[in-house]
Amino acid sequence: RVPTVGIDIGGTKVMAGVVDADGVILEKVRTETPDKSKSPKVVEDTICELVLDLSDRHDVHAVGIGAAGWVDADRSKVLFAPHLAWRNEPLRDALSARLAVPVLVDNDANTAAWAEWRFGAGRGEDHLVMITLGTGIGGAILEDGQVKRGKYGVAGEFGHMQVVPGGHRCPCGNRGCWEQYSSGNALVREARELAAADSPVAYNIIDRVGGNVRDITGPLITELAREGDAMCVELLQDIGQWLGVGIANLAAALDPSCFVIGGGVSAADDLLIGPARDAFRRHLTGRGYRPEARIAKAQLGPEAGMVGAADLARLVARRFRRAN
Ligand code: BGC
Ligand code: NA
Ligand code: ZN
Repeated sequence: RVPTVGIDIGGTKVMAGVVDADGVILEKVRTETPDKSKSPKVVEDTICELVLDLSDRHDVHAVGIGAAGWVDADRSKVLFAPHLAWRNEPLRDALSARLAVPVLVDNDANTAAWAEWRFGAGRGEDHLVMITLGTGIGGAILEDGQVKRGKYGVAGEFGHMQVVPGGHRCPCGNRGCWEQYSSGNALVREARELAAADSPVAYNIIDRVGGNVRDITGPLITELAREGDAMCVELLQDIGQWLGVGIANLAAALDPSCFVIGGGVSAADDLLIGPARDAFRRHLTGRGYRPEARIAKAQLGPEAGMVGAADLARLVARRFRRAN
C-alpha cells in the first residue's frame, strides 16, 4: 500500500504528485509544459526532474503517466499528440530506463476516468464516460471497471469529432473539431478575439489585464464570470452548450449512465455544467422516451488525471513484483 507517483502531462502544464492507496495526494509539484517546438526529450527531462524532486522526500516505487496524447494498445508509445511534440514516442521504455522503476503510460483522460471511478464522482458506475476540458477535450469510456481502449488504443478521442464542417482549424490537422468549441483553449480564443476587436462587452476584462490581450486566461474568465461579468458568463454558456451537444451525441453512441466532466474548465461549475445539462436535454435523441444519463462534475477536479495515473501505476508495480 505504498504511495506511487502520478504525472499528468497536458498541453499547458505538467503536474506530478505522490498519491497514497486511497487516492489522497501527499505532495504535488507542477511546472509548465515545455514548448511544442522543443524536442520530445525535453518533456522527458521535465518528467525526470519532477520525479527526482519528489523522491528526495518520498520512496518512489512506481510512476504512472497520464499523457495528453494517443497511447498505443500496449500502453508503451505515444503515437500522436495534437498539443505535444510526441510522434511515435517510446515513452514508457525511455522513462523506465531513466527512472529505474516500473512506469505506466496511458492517455490523460483515461487516467482521469479511472480516478473518478475509483475515488470520485463515478464510484459505483458501470457505464461511465469521462470528458475533460482543458487545452483540448479528453475522453474516456469506462465499462465494468475497465477503460475501453479500442483495437489500437485510441478509443475515446471525442475531442476530434467534427461538429462544425469547415470550422476552426485544430492542431490535429482537421477543422471543426469539438475541442475547438468546448475547451479552455476555445474559451480563451473567444475572449481574446472580443478583446482584440475592442468590443465594449470586453472592456472589463481588457481592464483586468491592463490591455494585454495575451494575458487573458481561462481561470481569469471564470473568475470574472463568478463576479457577474456578462461577457464571461456568456462565453462559459457557449462552451457549456457545445459540451451538451457533444454529450448528447455520445449518449446516442454509447448510452452510459453517467458523464463525468473534469479538467481545468470544470472549475466554472454551474456556469458551465448548467448550460451543458440544458443543451444535453434539448439535443438528446429520443428525449422523453429514454432514461437520461447523469452529468456530474469531477470530484477530483483537475487532479484526476494525476491521481488515476498513480493508482494505475500501483497495479502495474504489483504485477511487476509478482513477476520478479
Ligand atoms: C488529445 C487527447 C487528450 C485531450 C486532453 C486532445 O486534443 O487528442 O489525447 O486526451 O486533448 O488533453
Ligand atoms: Na482517452
Ligand atoms: Zn482536432
